[in-house]
Amino acid sequence: MRVRVFRCRICGDPYIGESPPTHCPFCGAQAQYIIDAHDWDSGEFDVELSEVSRQNLEAALDLEMGNAAFYACARDKAAADGDEYMLAKFKCLMKVEAEHASAICKFLKIDKPELSPGACSADGVENSREGYEREDRAIGAYARFRDEATEPRMKEFFGVLVEIETDHLEIHADDTK
Ligand SMILES: [Fe+2]
Ligand SMILES: [Fe+2]
Repeated sequence: MRVRVFRCRICGDPYIGESPPTHCPFCGAQAQYIIDAHDWDSGEFDVELSEVSRQNLEAALDLEMGNAAFYACARDKAAADGDEYMLAKFKCLMKVEAEHASAICKFLKIDKPELSPGACSADGVENSREGYEREDRAIGAYARFRDEATEPRMKEFFGVLVEIETDHLEIHADDTK
């Protein structure tokens, strides 16, 4: 089987493989959102935003930047600790949250802000607990943003973020048992 180029409808990033991955390696969206790159709709991020959705995207950007900064801190602490599992987890979560911030900026038509340094614990399990709480708050906010959105694309986008952050929540739940 030959490899092909795919593209994720949630973050816009391309992927090369024989088939779509189960989850986008960049934003974490499920396979159903990953399409053949030939079928890409160039207007995917051009949405006539209602005032409510614009404000909710701005709030989502703050959440994502805050969570990315927290995960970057947790990643660095795990690295200093030599905890390879926590390093892998927090590194990946940092990249995924930064990708969500990038996608939000595409809708808002703004440049992505710089990541400012975040605070965290020195302990990986403690950071997993805080990660759980952060994901829980994000899920609550995005579920509300999804319900408030009148644009089908915004409803879809916030709905997928709820699914992705729920996956993250479950990882933290497993690591704090
Ligand atoms: Fe993606
Ligand atoms: Fe996120």
